[in-house]
Amino acid sequence: MTATAMPEEPPALAGELISAAAIRQRVAELAQQVRADYEGGDLLLVGVLKAAVTFMVDLARELALPLEMDFMAVSSYGPGTESSGIVRIIKDLDVSIEGRHVLVVEDIVDTGATLRYLLRTLQARRPASLRVCTLLNKRKARKVEVALAYVGFEIPDCFVVGYGLDYEEQYRNMPHLALLADDTQPAE
Ligand code: IMP
Ligand code: MG
Repeated sequence: MTATAMPEEPPALAGELISAAAIRQRVAELAQQVRADYEGGDLLLVGVLKAAVTFMVDLARELALPLEMDFMAVSSYGPGTESSGIVRIIKDLDVSIEGRHVLVVEDIVDTGATLRYLLRTLQARRPASLRVCTLLNKRKARKVEVALAYVGFEIPDCFVVGYGLDYEEQYRNMPHLALLADDTQPAE
């Protein structure tokens, strides 16, 4: 391969924030809570592409409940690692959620803007219930309030990658979570 065909080097990482083993254990704990709450119900997991896929699949595998899965893709306009709050649906659900118990599965809640938009959109379709399960929560970064029924880990306001989360599409397949090397200090 010629040098010009090489992809740009992804940014360096600052070691491990949450290990694969710790993620696995926490996902199992979350699954126990979810199972207790939805036992006997008709559960629909709604995943937000692409980052939540890894978490959603692992959670679903631990759930041992009859459930269905569907996916949405949204894009929030804005450059780099900043979320702008303007959200657009790129791919909608395949199924109707009217009268169903919907659990939105998110990778991370940062400003909350994406999730608030998504919850408003889904609530208008009259589900029987609508709740959120997020693996990661950046409480300090919140700009709009959203109710989170299940939270895996509280993390500082730094940019994290791995376990589905990307920086410019890189690192999604890393089994643990790490900070970008130049983003190890929480934002003021
Ligand atoms: P929010 O609208 O600011 O809550 O965040 C929307 C989306 O930004 C999340 O669902 C993620 O896809 C992405 N995001 C926010 N923080 C991070 C991060 O630390 N790493 C990777 N993606 C992030
Ligand atoms: Mg996301």
